[in-house]
Amino acid sequence: MKIYKMSYQDLDQVMDIENSSFKDPWKRDFFEHDLCRRSAMLFVAKEGPKVIGYIDAWLFGDELHLANIAVHPEFRRMGVGSKLLKKIIELGKTKNAKYIVLEVRKSNFGAQKFYEKLGFKQYYLRPRYYSNGEDAIVYKLDL
Ligand SMILES: CC(C)(COP(=O)(O)OP(=O)(O)OC[C@H]1O[C@@H](n2cnc3c(N)ncnc32)[C@H](O)[C@@H]1OP(=O)(O)O)[C@@H](O)C(=O)NCCC(=O)NCCS
Repeated sequence: MKIYKMSYQDLDQVMDIENSSFKDPWKRDFFEHDLCRRSAMLFVAKEGPKVIGYIDAWLFGDELHLANIAVHPEFRRMGVGSKLLKKIIELGKTKNAKYIVLEVRKSNFGAQKFYEKLGFKQYYLRPRYYSNGEDAIVYKLDL
């Protein structure tokens, strides 16, 4: 598996993973928009030509904000998500990011375990953050 910068050519495969990973998937133009933003960092993990995961993070001053991460369902629990997140963290550090934050659904226990394994701590609760009224747990990791 190798990590590359995301390109427009990856978006069909990224959208397949996005649609199979989330109840409220991002629309394609969210990714297209971020691919144009200087503050956004987008990477894909690939096995040969196949996209098996992706990550999108935003840098605001010393804050790195993890906006999106997903791994193809058939490639989970193989270290792909960890590798993508570590890539963003290392890049963020070179750009003077001091911490990374993210929101996760209260019901998404798998993702919570994933972030906790990587050292993130629960920071605070954002009530009714999602469109269906579900709370978000904000996680933070100091870099
Ligand atoms: C969350 C996600 C990105 C993790 O990616 P991944 O490649 O499967 O994660 P890794 O293989 O790097 O996991 C590293 C460790 O995190 C923990 N972990 C990951 N997924 C887990 C799960 N579903 N349940 C419990 N622990 C989990 C484990 O400790 C794992 O190590 P182990 O497999 O040796 O036990 C992936 O499950 C996914 O795409 N989920 C759907 C989209 C999503 O929820 N994104 C996050 C939104 S906030």
